[in-house]
Amino acid sequence: MPLIAPSLLASDFLRLGEESRMLNESVADWFHLDVMDGRFVPNISFGLPVISALRKSTTKVFDVHLMIEEPERYAEAFKAAGADNLTVHLEACRHLHRNLQQIRSLGMRTGVALNPHTPVESLFDLLDEIDIVCIMSVNPGFGGQSFIPQTLNRIRNLRKRIDENKLPTLIEIDGGVTLDNAREIVEAGTHVLVAGSTVFNAPDPIGMIRALKDCEG
Ligand code: DX5
Ligand code: ZN
Repeated sequence: MPLIAPSLLASDFLRLGEESRMLNESVADWFHLDVMDGRFVPNISFGLPVISALRKSTTKVFDVHLMIEEPERYAEAFKAAGADNLTVHLEACRHLHRNLQQIRSLGMRTGVALNPHTPVESLFDLLDEIDIVCIMSVNPGFGGQSFIPQTLNRIRNLRKRIDENKLPTLIEIDGGVTLDNAREIVEAGTHVLVAGSTVFNAPDPIGMIRALKDCEG
């Protein structure tokens, strides 16, 4: 069964407390929190104060996805705000190995996100340092986009490498996950499904989270 990480980017910000309560009642495993700086991606979302406020509303894992330049400048602050997993983009890091050591030394799980054009092989020599590889299945910056089909081959390719080396690294898929494609995404080798609009636009978000978790039938 996949882990489910609803992305609060698609939640109702006016009712963030209630959205958090809903996730607490659901079988969601992680809160996926998308931070954007208007530089690495064209959009700006939310940041540290919102994450600190949410931290008081739940004990579930905070999976923070940084879509920002120079993420190393903020790792400590996100730890203090309550991040459990800190994901940085390979494309935003000139010294990724050092950045990952910094995140681990702060006591967080390390995540590396890859834009759709970045080969998964770029991380093959670094997988020992990475707890979570987040393969972007849309171009980062916005919710509600369509899943890029070539992602399935990327998942298979990375999963093969992880299994061959008996690594504990998790594969997370972010973008365009729906109830229609969740099963093939998991069958390709995914451990964690991020879902924004599919969860928060559903008439019954708790039921939708359950359905995504049970997508293998
Ligand atoms: C996109 C974000 C995603 C986004 C996914 O840049 O990283 O986490 O919220 O949204 P959906 O699930 O609607 O594609
Ligand atoms: Zn994300």
